[in-house]
Amino acid sequence: MDFSFMSKYYQFYIDGTAVTLFLSFFGVICGVVLGVLIALMKLSKNSIIKGFASSYIELIRGTPLLVQLYIVYYGLPRLVGWDFEDITLGIAAVSLNSAAYVAEIIRAGIQSIDKGQMEAARSLGMPHGMAMRYIIIPQAFKNILPALGNEFIVLIKESAIVSVVGIHDLMYKADTVRGNTYMPFAPLLVAAVIYFTITFGLSKLLGSVERRMRAGDSS
Ligand code: ARG
Repeated sequence: MDFSFMSKYYQFYIDGTAVTLFLSFFGVICGVVLGVLIALMKLSKNSIIKGFASSYIELIRGTPLLVQLYIVYYGLPRLVGWDFEDITLGIAAVSLNSAAYVAEIIRAGIQSIDKGQMEAARSLGMPHGMAMRYIIIPQAFKNILPALGNEFIVLIKESAIVSVVGIHDLMYKADTVRGNTYMPFAPLLVAAVIYFTITFGLSKLLGSVERRMRAGDSS
């Protein structure tokens, strides 16, 4: 197979990779902020707030990211009467999607802590909020952090979908190279290798962070 096109087109891949990383990074950051909010709403005792959070999670998880992207990309600017940058709309779509998954990660993380922990804290006289902050959250954090890292990896891959609305991410750039060179296959292979290098590297990094956190456990 001939990869000589790379000497002319390598910059396309560098630019595309930068956009993909930018999009996934801010996607996961905004997704976590929103996700924490939705997780707290879902754990609320108020049934309206709880119902809203549950509906949001079900709606997002029950529709394809592609459809959500189209709705945000074509609908949001009309809805608020404002022209956003393409990349902003891409980040919005990705983070609105991610928030639902993050909310479930956080809720599961908090609920995974044995309820005896809360009971013990309360029996020592701690108010609910204080027990949450000093007893439950620090333990839940160990379960949540690796899953959040994984969400970042998922977003790096899923963000390729934004290429369909013309955001110049890695996938879009690979497609451009395919068009320019009339080569249907080789430019895609380069993109695949780049995606894999990033996600594999990140997953190794996450693994080592996770092991270091476990090192503090006595069991
Ligand atoms: N491909 C999935 C879909 O079409 C997207 C899943 C996104 N997952 C995530 N953890 N953010 O719905």
